[in-house]
Amino acid sequence: MLSGAYLRPLTPADAADVLAGFQADPEMIRQGDVTDLDSAGKYIEFLTDSEQGNHGFAIVVESRCGGVVGINGASQHRLGWFFYWMHPEFRGQGLTARAAASVANWALTNGGFERLELGHRVNNPASGAVAQAAGFIHEGTERAKFLVKGERVDVRTYGRLSTDPAPDTEPLPLSSR
Ligand SMILES: CC(C)(COP(=O)(O)OP(=O)(O)OC[C@H]1O[C@@H](n2cnc3c(N)ncnc32)[C@H](O)[C@@H]1OP(=O)(O)O)[C@@H](O)C(=O)NCCC(=O)NCCS
Repeated sequence: MLSGAYLRPLTPADAADVLAGFQADPEMIRQGDVTDLDSAGKYIEFLTDSEQGNHGFAIVVESRCGGVVGINGASQHRLGWFFYWMHPEFRGQGLTARAAASVANWALTNGGFERLELGHRVNNPASGAVAQAAGFIHEGTERAKFLVKGERVDVRTYGRLSTDPAPDTEPLPLSSR
C-alpha cells in the first residue's frame, strides 16, 4: 500500500502527469482527447471550470498526479457526472476507490450536488467496483450503448444521492490546494 496519497484540485502544472496517464493505457482514449501537453492543459482547464460546475481533483501519489477524479456539473439540477482514472502504475491498490469515495462524500455534503451519476462498460468491472466502494448504487443497464471495436457494448449506470448513506470506504484526505 502506498502511504501519503491524498487529493487536491488539479492545476495547470499537472499537464505532464495527465498526459502520462493517457499515454500509458490505450483504453484512456475513452476518457477524453488528450494527446499532447496542449490538449492535457485544455482537459485540466475544462475540469476546473467552476462556472460550468466542473471539479477536477488530482490523486497525488508519490508526489505526482497519478490519477484524476472529476465531476461535470449540471447546476440547474444540482447533478454531476462522475468519473475517475488511475495511471496503470498505481492501480490495484484501492486508491481510486478511496479517492472516489472522498470526492463523492464532499460533493454531496459541501459541494452543492444532490445527485451524482456515472456509467461504465460491462467489460470494465474494476470501474463498477470503484463506483460501489464510493457509495454508488446500480440503477440499470443501457443496452448496446457504445460501439467498441466493432461490437455494441452494454453500459451499467449508477447513482448516488445526497440522501444515500456514505460508504464504509476509508476516504483519502482531500486538501483544498
Ligand atoms: C477503473 C480504474 C479507475 C480502477 O482503478 P484502480 O486504482 O485499479 O482501482 P482500485 O485499486 O481502487 O480498485 C477498486 C476495486 O476494483 C477491483 N478491481 C480492480 N481491477 C479489477 C479487475 N480487473 N476486475 C475486477 N475488479 C477489479 C478491486 O479489487 C477493487 O475492488 P474491492 O475494493 O472490492 O477489492 C482503472 O482501471 C482505470 O483507470 N481504468 C481506465 C479508465 C476507466 O476505465 N475509468 C472508469 C471509467 S467510468
